[in-house]
This record gives sequence, C-alpha cells and structure tokens, in this order.
Amino acid sequence: MTGFVDVVIEGKTYQMPVIIGSEGEKAFDITKLRDQTGYITHDPGFGSTGSCSSSITYMDGDKGILRYRGIPIEQLAKKSSFVETAYLLINGILPSQGDLNEIRTLLNDYSMIHENMQDFFKHFPRDSHPMGILSAMVGSLRSFYPEMQNDEEAVNKKTLRLISKIRTLAAMSFRISRGNKVVYPRHDLSYCANFLNMMFDGPVKPYTMDEDVVRALNVFWILHADHEQNCSTAAVRVVGSAQVNLYASISAGIAALWGPRHGGANMAVIRMLEDIAERNIPVDKIVKMAKDKNSDFRLMGFGHRVYKTFDPRAVIMKEMCDIVLKKLNVDDPLLDIAKRLEEAALTDPYFIEKNLYPNVDFYSGIILRAIGIPTNMFTVMFAIGRLPGWISQWIESTEDPRWKIARPRQIYTGNKKYDYIPIEARYI
Ligand code: SDX
Repeated sequence: MTGFVDVVIEGKTYQMPVIIGSEGEKAFDITKLRDQTGYITHDPGFGSTGSCSSSITYMDGDKGILRYRGIPIEQLAKKSSFVETAYLLINGILPSQGDLNEIRTLLNDYSMIHENMQDFFKHFPRDSHPMGILSAMVGSLRSFYPEMQNDEEAVNKKTLRLISKIRTLAAMSFRISRGNKVVYPRHDLSYCANFLNMMFDGPVKPYTMDEDVVRALNVFWILHADHEQNCSTAAVRVVGSAQVNLYASISAGIAALWGPRHGGANMAVIRMLEDIAERNIPVDKIVKMAKDKNSDFRLMGFGHRVYKTFDPRAVIMKEMCDIVLKKLNVDDPLLDIAKRLEEAALTDPYFIEKNLYPNVDFYSGIILRAIGIPTNMFTVMFAIGRLPGWISQWIESTEDPRWKIARPRQIYTGNKKYDYIPIEARYI
C-alpha cells in the first residue's frame, strides 16, 4: 500500500489507502467505505472494480500485453508446453526436469476415470451440450473418488488429478456421444498426444499422430491457460469463497465459460462464418449488421472487456491457422472469410472508434476444425486449456489470509414498504 487518496462525500473528506501493483496499476481500497461513509460503490459488470490482488497473470489491454507469472505469452507459445505452463501458473515458477518427470508420472497415474462414470455419459440425452456434460462430470468427480474428499490432500496431487482427468472426460464424452468405443489413455503419449489419441484413434483407422498438430494443441491450450479475472475465473473465485471443494468451484467456472459472450464465442464464430459461407453473404454486409443497433447481431470473436487493441492470443492463433492448415493440407474457406471479415472490420470507423479487435476466439475455431474437433466441443477445448488458470486462481484466493466469502452489496430500486393486500381487495 502506498499513500492515500481523498474522497470527499457530503463535504467530509475520507482517506482511502492506495494500492499500486508491480506493473504500476493503481487502486484505492474501499473496504471500509460503507462503514465510514454509508455509501457503497456501483459498478455492474465490475469494469472499474478489482476483486482481488493477484500475482498470476498480467494483462495490459491498451498495449496488448499478456504474461503468465511474468513470462510473455509469445515466449511460452513458442518455447513451452501446456503441462509446463500449467505448472508455472499453479506453482509460480517454471518446473525443473525432475518436476516435469514427476508431473508426467502423476498425469499418467490419474488419467483413467471411474468406469461407472461411463454410465453417466451413456444416459445423457444424445443432443446434450458437451459443456453441460463436462460441468456435471467434473462436479461429480469428488463423489467417485473418496481421496478427492480429502480437502487436505497435497495441492499438486489434487490439481494434477483434475488436469489429467478433464482430458479423459472430454474425449470419453465425445466417443460415447458418437456411439464409438472408448479409447483409454496411454502412458507412452504426452498430455496433448494422449488427448488426440483418445479422441480419434480407432480399430479400423488408427490415429496418425502429427507432431505439428500436437504442437498446435499445446499452443492452443497455452494461449487459453489463464486470463486474470475474466467471467469464469471470477465465478471460480466466488464459488470457492464459500469454502466448497475445488471440483465444485471448477464446475461453476465451466458453466460460466459456456456463455456466447465468453468461451462460447469460439463456437459462435464458426457458426457465423459457416452461415456467411453457406449464404454467400458479403463481408461488408456482416460488418453493417454488426453496427446496426436495431439488430442484436454482434461480430462474434470481436471485442473484449479489457483488450482495446489486438488480443495477443488472436495474433498467435491467426499465425497458427496458416501453419496447421498448410501442414494438414486443409483448405478451409472459413479462414479466408475470417481474414476478409477482420480486414473489413478493422478499417471501419465503428470498430476503430470502439476499439473492437479480434479476440482469442476469432481464429481458434479454424484450428480446431482442421484438427477434427467437432464445433460443439470447441468450448470444452477452451475449458481444458483454462483449467490450470482456474486452479491457480482458486488456490491463490483460498490461501489469501484476507479471504472472505464473496458477498457484493446492491442499490435497491424496488417498492417502498406497503402492507399486505388480502386477495378479495386486490385488482378490483
Ligand atoms: C472471451 O474477459 C476475458 O478475459 C474473456 C476471455 C478470456 O480469455 O477469458 O478473453 C475470453 O470471453 C473473449 C470474448 C469472447 N466474446 C465474443 O467474441 C462475443 C462478441 N463480443 C462482445 O459480446 C463483447 O465485445 C464482449 C462481451 C466481449 C465485451 O463486451 P463489453 O466490453 O461489455 O463491451 P460492450 O458490450 O459494452 O460494447 C461496447 C460497445 C457497444 O456499442 P455501444 O452500446 O457503445 O454503441 O461496442 C459494441 C457494443 O454494441 N460491441 C460490438 C461488439 N462488441 C462490442 N459491436 C459489434 N460486435 C461486437 N463483437
């Protein structure tokens, strides 16, 4: 804390302590505002409200900066793996080779799921949304594994178990939804290769592992791994603040991510691009629709609550599209439409004035399509990537000595007091 700001309310001056972050971000602490002044603040959507101090991820929305534990996302995308980045987010430092070897062993040990969980998958209605299934299955993990009920269990075991099993849950759910035999995890494959194998291997046509695709999946999940206090992370922190277990808190994060304003946008982008392709809609007409206040159409994959310039993840995703599609010899017309749409939007005064740029979701679906992931699983892929971030934020909040149950206040705008009206006297 450094110094104070003066807040004058009804002629009286109150001093609020100033907090300055390690990158110079400034806040003043209003913890005692209501007790001292009787006032609360009002900030729907929390656009100007900090819910916590955190040392995990730093974003600068004006400069398009994103760093995990201080390391720029561009470097992690180029040099790290998803498992190593997950360790960095959760533990705050990069792992040693010994740490990586231990992690790999634990991820393998934890990769199976309880056979009875397969019955759950078989009884979800066929058109169930994979995010609804994932949220339910992650929440149920604690019931299937008594050791998970040991809330004192070592954090690295608790977290690696979930990071390993979420991948198996997602692949198993996909296979069973297609009526295919389940493919079990293999101990000779890396985290990402194992997922691809569980998704696509088959007795008739064995899955051919492509190292560039495995690399692309690592990068995809690295780019999604954390993003400070976004909607789903805030949900994980809020639910965790009631002292519920990690799995229930993560299940709430999955539910929040499902929304089209948030992680569900990656599916919405592809559906928008498919619609443009099918109906051959000129991109300038799409841009015009996105600007039309009378239509609820939005350019999905564009805009961001924090980034008011390029989302650095979108820049990397766009580069990866060209690499992955070329390597897989995929010619996806949606990529060309996406690029033309981006070009049209970025030269339009509306988008320029409102600082609307492509976000992480604009190009990510193109990569997932090329890999063979079905559109309705795109947000599940986002959730697997975001899991280490949710976990690290949950641990940080539950270990914070100032940790209290999240309980925002409100400004009441309803009826003033009036007496009960007997039924016979109502609406005469
Ligand atoms: C993610 O928070 C995170 O960090 C999220 C995320 C993460 O990693 O966790 O980055 C992941 O959720 C990315 C965002 C994915 N969602 C979308 O792509 C959906 C489309 N985008 C929008 O719905 C919107 O941009 C949001 C929800 C992302 C951000 O909304 P804001 O900051 O609340 O912006 P707003 O709704 O207040 O809009 C400001 C203005 C409005 O116009 P005016 O009322 O001022 O005239 O910009 C317009 C909006 O109409 N606008 C858009 C637009 N986004 C905002 N107009 C057309 N198309 C869009 N996409």
